[in-house]
Amino acid sequence: MRAPHPVVVVHGGAGDVPVERHAEAVEGCRRAARAGLEVLLAGGSALDAAQRAVEVLEDDPLFNAGTGACLTEAGEIELDASVMEGTGLRAGAVAALPPFRNPVRIARAVLEEGRHVMMSGPGAAAFARSMGFEPADPESMITEASRRRLETWKQGRAEAGWAGGTVGAVACDASGRLAAATSTGGRVGKRPGRVGDSPVPGAGTFADDEAGACSCTGDGEAILRVGLARLAVDLLRVGLHADEAARAAIATLGRRVGGTGGLVLLDRRGRFAACWNTRTMSHAVARAGQPVVGDIVAPLQDV
Ligand code: GLY
Repeated sequence: MRAPHPVVVVHGGAGDVPVERHAEAVEGCRRAARAGLEVLLAGGSALDAAQRAVEVLEDDPLFNAGTGACLTEAGEIELDASVMEGTGLRAGAVAALPPFRNPVRIARAVLEEGRHVMMSGPGAAAFARSMGFEPADPESMITEASRRRLETWKQGRAEAGWAGGTVGAVACDASGRLAAATSTGGRVGKRPGRVGDSPVPGAGTFADDEAGACSCTGDGEAILRVGLARLAVDLLRVGLHADEAARAAIATLGRRVGGTGGLVLLDRRGRFAACWNTRTMSHAVARAGQPVVGDIVAPLQDV
């Protein structure tokens, strides 16, 4: 097999983002992909790179993750995030985590500690504090836009449960190691305690050096039911090209459970694909020696 290409692919969430905000979201994805690539070029692992890219998106209030996360029906932030590396199939996740600035870092701490794969709610917060993470002042993470989205949802003017703006990244390093990371505030107006696909290995996030890596976005309940990230990677495993696998997985999401969403996918050689069945999914790709490009492929039609 030829040497893998170091690459970072990020998404800023599937949804229906107006043109002017979509351009900003693509720019945010480009910044995140570049930051992830810098980690790879400095000798970091695929896992370090995917995590770094997601941190950048969590810090960007434009996206529904970390700062700017959407609010529960009680007006609070509850965060879901996960990381997975494809060499040892190690994973770490937090679910329904109260406000901490970078939940993906806490997911990484869960992975590194290795005792459990997923921590939730108050237990996740206690774990984070024990690992030296400081809880954030909720007011510092709640944006005017997220308050407005909740108000709109309460007035019944927004689609119940829309999960636009979830963020994620997949990375391949020069050794061919693969990793994926995903982070979200979930869906607007969700019940407190609701957990979506993003922290669940195999649903929102999956990586296996023997096949590929995937991060998903969209309707979490539907993505959980089809195990979307694992489905896409397994389609690579049986020999589909990344583009075919991504399309087939999203087609399954639509056909089997009527789900909407998207994903970014990498194969073992660092060949990538992005696919979605919503109107928009901001995304970007960073490869060594090449300009960072955003919005490279068109959405999947007819699913
Ligand atoms: N895909 C994000 C969520 O539904 O929570």
